[in-house]
Amino acid sequence: MSKLYLQAAQAATDILKSNLSKFTDKFQMSNSVGNFYQPSENVEWTTGFCTGEYWLAYELTQDEAFKKAALVQTESFLHRIENKVDVNHHDMGFLYTPSCVAAYKLTQSETGKKAALLAADNLVSRFQAVGGFLQAWGELGAEENYRLIIDCLLNLPLLYWASEVTKDSKYADIAKLHTKTSLANLIREDNSTYHTYFFDKKTGKPTHGVTHQGYRDGSAWARGQAWGVYGTALAYRYTKEEQCKDLFIKVTDFFINHLPQDNVPYWDLDFTDGSNEPKDSSAAAIAVCGILEMLPMLPELQQEKYEQAAQKMLESLVKNYAVKDIAQSNGLLLHGVYAKNSPYNPIPKDRGVDECNTWGDYFYLEALTRSIKQWNPYW
Ligand code: GLY
Repeated sequence: MSKLYLQAAQAATDILKSNLSKFTDKFQMSNSVGNFYQPSENVEWTTGFCTGEYWLAYELTQDEAFKKAALVQTESFLHRIENKVDVNHHDMGFLYTPSCVAAYKLTQSETGKKAALLAADNLVSRFQAVGGFLQAWGELGAEENYRLIIDCLLNLPLLYWASEVTKDSKYADIAKLHTKTSLANLIREDNSTYHTYFFDKKTGKPTHGVTHQGYRDGSAWARGQAWGVYGTALAYRYTKEEQCKDLFIKVTDFFINHLPQDNVPYWDLDFTDGSNEPKDSSAAAIAVCGILEMLPMLPELQQEKYEQAAQKMLESLVKNYAVKDIAQSNGLLLHGVYAKNSPYNPIPKDRGVDECNTWGDYFYLEALTRSIKQWNPYW
């Protein structure tokens, strides 16, 4: 198995090496078009994954070229937060953890530290005391935006890190409150998850769950469920609350139990083989990372089941979804979905359907790294 993963990591880092000339001063767009990424400025919620892939590649190969490129991009992230370029949302963790926190952890970069702390300040400015959560999007306090989303669980490690380096507990305190509110509302009786949850602006009472990128409000958007898998694992690491472990098991079981034959989910867990719907390979990559994060913290008796599930998903990603040749794609993982329109959810326009996306590439490489070596998480 480890030979398969070593070869896969080699293929991935070869592609990343050949990407450096095009994607150092510029970033990759969130998703590929025709399986090829075009260059982008440092905007949207996804550019941190490009830098994060370079840090992982640096850790895997010790090739200084990756470190150099990642540090150039770290400067760009400082510029972005100082000039408030497209940072009016909660995705500070996705942007600043795999880029700038990683830069600080791996090279003691003061630029990375400064940028990531500014990003943490920006994130806590979105805390809504009435309801006890970090507002995901839009104008702060606006009724139509008074909600949290499951993805945000991955933004919280930035806050725990900020508390650790500043010795100011306010970041971690807010992260813990947000976790509590999220886990109390996002997970349904059957252990599937809502994508987003609204609160009453005046009383803070939870009102209703709504999807943003899933097939329908009551379904489990595959990537949302995967954010739940990784999010509950991280919540357990940081809070050590038994409830987080229980919820990890529940959310992960739901995910695993809804995998099709090849162990990589369709974009919404409503769909099964024969549905003709596209797969979202990124959801499998995220779930693998979440399971590998949680594995050492699970009782020994439970480890085998989850380790096997993670191995099956990762093996399938390597064999059936990974890019084998740069002529095929300049990404790492094929067959993801960014957003798909549905008859029950007219909000998203089809975007990045059956394409690579930067978070799929990043979490695929993180999963390989976790499987190959002892890895000190950026999250
Ligand atoms: N966090 C946004 C997404 O998963 O598409």
